[in-house]
Amino acid sequence: MSEPPTARHEPVRRESADRESAGRAPAGRGPWAALTRLVRCPVCGDGLEVVERSLRCPQRHTFDMARQGYVSLLSGAKPTVNADSAAMVQARTAFLEAGHYAPLTRALARITASLGLPGGGEDGTVLDAGAGTGHYLAAVLEALPGAVGLALDASPYALRRAARAHPRAGAASWDVWRPFPVRDSCVDVVLNVFAPRNSAEFHRVLKPDGVLLVVTPTERHLHELRDRLGLLEVDPDKEERLERTLSGHFVRERTEALEYTVELPPQDVENLAAMGPAARHIDPEELRERVAALGGPVDVTASFGVSVHRADSSPSVQA
Ligand SMILES: C[S@@+](CC[C@H](N)C(=O)[O-])C[C@H]1O[C@@H](n2cnc3c(N)ncnc32)[C@H](O)[C@@H]1O
Repeated sequence: MSEPPTARHEPVRRESADRESAGRAPAGRGPWAALTRLVRCPVCGDGLEVVERSLRCPQRHTFDMARQGYVSLLSGAKPTVNADSAAMVQARTAFLEAGHYAPLTRALARITASLGLPGGGEDGTVLDAGAGTGHYLAAVLEALPGAVGLALDASPYALRRAARAHPRAGAASWDVWRPFPVRDSCVDVVLNVFAPRNSAEFHRVLKPDGVLLVVTPTERHLHELRDRLGLLEVDPDKEERLERTLSGHFVRERTEALEYTVELPPQDVENLAAMGPAARHIDPEELRERVAALGGPVDVTASFGVSVHRADSSPSVQA
């Protein structure tokens, strides 16, 4: 594991920071006043409270809120491998705003509303691990009036978006392979959409009756584009791998298959490729040429599995 995050120690009166934060609303007026019941100090594990534009624990480990609205809990750590770049986030934002994954967004909202959370999710808490722009977290929060959401991601470019995704959502920088800066047993719904899965941490932070929602692409997802654009294949063992990763911590309750065809204009095909892992191995100019060679809009299969998991409460897991 790489270096643990570092925190600023108060009291340090920083003139420039004070001037910089003048005119900006204190963090306590946004979602963070409620989110402090969820988060814990990543250095010492104590609770965190909102102090002006920062979160601070009783040991005075202090984490500032970036100008763009997210909290830097990962401050001082090396950049996380696989965090999305600015270009990937821009492409993802444009693609999602075009509505091509709207059926998936609606499915997540519908499934969340049907989970039977206590009080219909009022006062509920949602954690989106690898939240990206916070697009799906926002939809899930709409389905749970009164609930608050925390978006964790390692990409500052994604976090800038996630911090503005929904009035009841806060965003914080974190590497999901580390122990989460989240208290034990306080989350109603963990959301994990095309993002890394830390099964032990999902289990630790979820309430005993909480739910883990996972979205994975199937082998058929985007199959029309894979060869023509040189996109990475979806691992045919993905479902088994998901099962193995979660086993011991979670029991699968059900999986909904969601598949539809969408007509994508060239710009949206380019965004689709540029927001995913292909962006890490295909030169953008080369990608543009491959998209141009498609010769116009293409019909593409979107194919996902949305699975609902409950905590495995068998004695071996409790121990
Ligand atoms: C494929 S994107 C999915 C984003 C979002 N869930 C969505 O579907 O729109 C994967 C996200 O995981 C983030 N990520 C990758 N590795 C991570 C890590 N170790 N810790 C936290 N976030 C990570 C990336 O920055 C990116 O935002």
